[in-house]
Amino acid sequence: MLKIGCSYRTLFSASNGTITHRSVNSTRHQSTALHFYQNKQLELYASKQASRLTLRQLVFFGRKMNEDRLMKSANYVRTELPVRIAHRLRDLQALPFIVVTQEGVGRVYELYWSAFEKLRRYPPITTLDENEKFCEFLGGLLNEHAPVIPNITLGLSLASPHLPPESLDSFMRRMLVSRISRRVLAEHHIALSEGFVGRGQRTDGEPHVGIIFTGLNVKRSVERCARLLRESPIWIYDEENLPDPSCWPEVHVEGHVNTSFAYIREHLEYIIFELLKNSMHATYAHHHKEKTLPAVQVTIVAGEHDVGIRISDQGGGLRTARNRVKNPADLFSFSHLRNEARLDDSRLGALRSASSQQAGFVGTVDEQVGRWQKARKQESTGLITDGAAIQQTHPRIGIGLPMSNIYTTYFGGSLDLISLDGWGTDVYLRLPKLGKNLEGIEV
Ligand code: COI
Repeated sequence: MLKIGCSYRTLFSASNGTITHRSVNSTRHQSTALHFYQNKQLELYASKQASRLTLRQLVFFGRKMNEDRLMKSANYVRTELPVRIAHRLRDLQALPFIVVTQEGVGRVYELYWSAFEKLRRYPPITTLDENEKFCEFLGGLLNEHAPVIPNITLGLSLASPHLPPESLDSFMRRMLVSRISRRVLAEHHIALSEGFVGRGQRTDGEPHVGIIFTGLNVKRSVERCARLLRESPIWIYDEENLPDPSCWPEVHVEGHVNTSFAYIREHLEYIIFELLKNSMHATYAHHHKEKTLPAVQVTIVAGEHDVGIRISDQGGGLRTARNRVKNPADLFSFSHLRNEARLDDSRLGALRSASSQQAGFVGTVDEQVGRWQKARKQESTGLITDGAAIQQTHPRIGIGLPMSNIYTTYFGGSLDLISLDGWGTDVYLRLPKLGKNLEGIEV
């Protein structure tokens, strides 16, 4: 295993695109040669363009699987991932030095270097057995990279006084879109492989190819998220005691309720879960002294090219005494200049604790809810202290909305928040339904 990028003694500087490596064990000559060689490899991969895909290509390719196609899929993932990671390593190297020394950034750099080295050296996959090992290897990388988001968010929040908001946000966008794209490729290939050998079949009966649900029913996803939120109200973080379930706002769904389309269910549900969570929380906070709470209204519309989803709440809007936002779009920003909560001590503390844990806190809605339920059980049996479940499983790291925006735009959708201050918020989510858009250019 190469040392570079794998040691805390590694520092990278970017203004000149070189890496400075201080190893106590290696001689300066060896170290210089090693850097030179490794940076050359990085240059080589970073000079290649990512071959971006559409959702439709992922579905069509995976629909009729045979061994030959599975090997093609494996080798595409094997050769594509290091290219995508190389672009992000170059991005990290291009950050000003003051940014790369911030807590969390080095950890992400190390993870990326290590994954890059492993992937670029991985031999071609030619048999089902080799593919099984490759899938195990990918699964390991997916787990290892779970804390990337809290780490990079922590580092860039701390660096936010040193970067113009536009540069900071475009850097974060590239990091996050690219990460989503790499996880999609890896998870899709693992799911196709499991399907091919007859393992890991999903039991919920919805038609799917790999991780893409080909007839994803939007109303069902909205109702699933609403049910999970009502069963596990992790959205009410700042209440001492959870209110009685009868006080939680209901979610009503109307419009083209039979709409279904091909999409990655985990992405759709991540977004819906986050938006409903915000709406339900705002409604509760704004109305909890009243006898009944106004319902959150979800309207689904199947357009010619898109699926539109509007979520309307009466939670008082975005510019309330509780919120400090000036412009709703600032809620998507990672810069404290646009969103001052980024440097709140509580938020940085939550990011620190999430960064040091393996779970990473950005999973599917099932994972989020599962973590909460497990911790609640531990709480009730005295294994962890009262109140720790919410803090441990859903700390306020403040990335739900920016992440939802990134998930939405990954295949060309859009997310807009419109606040009627003093009354409520309307969120307009638009997702392309034909699957013809390429992944975002930042992959
Ligand atoms: C990530 O999650 O950041 C990844 O890059 C995962 C990939 C190496 C499979």
